[in-house]
Amino acid sequence: MITFPSEFISRLKKAKSVTVLTGAGVSKESGIPTFRDAQSGLWAKYNPEELASPDAFRRNPRLVWDFYKDRRTAAEKAIPNPGHFSLAKMEKLFETFSLITQNVDGLHASAGSSSVIELHGNLHRIKCSGRCGMVGHWVDDGLAAPRCQKCGAFLRVDVVWFGESLPEAELEKAMLASQNCDVFFSIGTSGVVQPAASLGLMARDRGAVFVEINYEPSAISRLADYKIYGQSGTILPQLLQALL
Ligand code: OAD
Ligand code: ZN
Repeated sequence: MITFPSEFISRLKKAKSVTVLTGAGVSKESGIPTFRDAQSGLWAKYNPEELASPDAFRRNPRLVWDFYKDRRTAAEKAIPNPGHFSLAKMEKLFETFSLITQNVDGLHASAGSSSVIELHGNLHRIKCSGRCGMVGHWVDDGLAAPRCQKCGAFLRVDVVWFGESLPEAELEKAMLASQNCDVFFSIGTSGVVQPAASLGLMARDRGAVFVEINYEPSAISRLADYKIYGQSGTILPQLLQALL
């Protein structure tokens, strides 16, 4: 059993508005490797920039499409873990609860979280790589790198690639939620990728309590008022219990 600092629990119980940022660590116990884990299997010989960037897609749309097809298949097989389910239940305990995720696996929504701010997109969505703006659900017509029916350009997965900007509306929502909360949680992220990694600082600068839940210290640990190390799938259900 984890013993949470009593002061922390009482501050959390008084909170009106809570914002949570999650990273790949939250999906690790669902069997989805994190980014800083080495790429597994076939993709181990590539570095992520060779697979998740506009240049890589231009050079070899088929390779990039296949990489994401594998990641999507893995995400489809994955089931939310107790950490996802606890966050979905936690949203009902506060007047305002915002869940921001860097993850593209869709597991928070599958666990019942109602409005997830997906900073880096979603593996289950595709979009046209051209200018027609088509966005849709994954097509798997067996063709490697299928083409857009509207304009003929290649289709691509709707996730943010290295060197690309984040979806403006999502980033705006994430910043607002970080600047207007009493407690900010950073869960399962190494805190190295911007701008997600700055959201906690934004919250802290506005007087929020900053809590880190992670397997190990991260690049943002020094900012946290409370640090709880371990697996989020173990910690979050116990934190939920302590709040009920
Ligand atoms: P990382 O792989 O960088 O960090 C995952 C963090 O989760 C690490 O600090 C681990 O220690 C921790 N962790 C692992 N297992 C855990 C568990 N069971 N419970 C709690 N923590 C655990 O992944 P992210 O921080 O999410 O960006 O990476 C951020 C971004 O970097 C990704 O969204 C991606 C990548 O570039 C884009 O795709 C744009
Ligand atoms: Zn198109």
